[in-house]
Amino acid sequence: MGGAAAYHRAFSSGRDVDLAAIYSLITDDMREVDAVIRARLRSEVVLVSQVAEYIIGAGGKRMRPALVLLVAGALGYRGRHHHELAAVIEFIHTATLLHDDVVDESDLRRGRETANAQFGNAASVLVGDFLYSRAFQMMVGVGSMRVQQVLADATNTIAEGEVLQLMNCHNADIDVDEYLQVIRFKTAKLFEAAARLGAILVDASAEVEAGMATYGMHLGTAFQLIDDVLDYSGEEAETGKHLGDDLAEGKPTLPLIHTMKFGTPEQAACVRDAIVSGGRDAFPGVLAAVKGSGALVAARKQAETEAQAAVAAISAIPASVFKDALLELPAFSVSRRS
Ligand code: IPE
Ligand code: IPE
Ligand code: MG
Ligand code: MG
Repeated sequence: MGGAAAYHRAFSSGRDVDLAAIYSLITDDMREVDAVIRARLRSEVVLVSQVAEYIIGAGGKRMRPALVLLVAGALGYRGRHHHELAAVIEFIHTATLLHDDVVDESDLRRGRETANAQFGNAASVLVGDFLYSRAFQMMVGVGSMRVQQVLADATNTIAEGEVLQLMNCHNADIDVDEYLQVIRFKTAKLFEAAARLGAILVDASAEVEAGMATYGMHLGTAFQLIDDVLDYSGEEAETGKHLGDDLAEGKPTLPLIHTMKFGTPEQAACVRDAIVSGGRDAFPGVLAAVKGSGALVAARKQAETEAQAAVAAISAIPASVFKDALLELPAFSVSRRS
């Protein structure tokens, strides 16, 4: 399918995109990935298995491992390392979630109490470390220096992104570019790494690898832009997370930045005060300001622009059902409710 048709199909109708339909292409592979995850989760230390099982057993969308498999599929991979690498990516993702929920003081994820709420901050941090280091053991087993380099770089960048975000908490003067840097680091980098690994697995040309990486970067940016919108406008039953967590931490995300820039003086002041003080009390007022100023619509528009850039980045890849699935993921990231 050509680029123009893909644009039309993905974005013209504003329709929902069914993740299950995308995953139906990789059902058997995802089952294999699940088996690797289960096997590699094992530890003699009871609390490690307990906490790791608790968060992984709650599911999640598994988008990042699916990305490894779909990119590998689109490029005709025939080897055996993709399941292990997909599991590595999900372990790294899960480790970031364990740490992130401690930092954000969140108590709901995947529709259940967070691990920190259930087992305490110390257990969450330490089991997050277990998952990171298990991921590194697994990637060493794959035996490719390039793979190790990509994953080491991605993990390092994610940590920088989270620290950058911490530095910007309660900062009402952050601009859009600084915000975008945070989300590229903390979220988009892992999507980028997942897509890049799929290309490295098939020994793709530098051009194809770069195209896949760019695709992942834009996909992940769109994904986080919408995550930040859903923190104001989602349904907890669908996101499985509490609304208002970002505001509680004084996190200046795009809906807030946009309101301060383009809202009425009253709307801007309401948001500014809430970022500086944090907490949940101001949430109803901020929600009204964010909606009234058109900030949620603007943030969605920006996510759509990122999604279109993702689609454009893989226009040169040969047509296949896997490519069709890759073309659908950006639209899912924008239209998703969970
Ligand atoms: C949550 O990611 C963290 C963000 C980058 C927003 P997901 O929404 O992919 O989490 P799960 O794995 O599906 O629960
Ligand atoms: C998630 O950002 C980024 C990472 C997990 C590194 P958020 O803090 O917005 O994610 P949620 O909303 O808690 O899932
Ligand atoms: Mg969080
Ligand atoms: Mg969030």
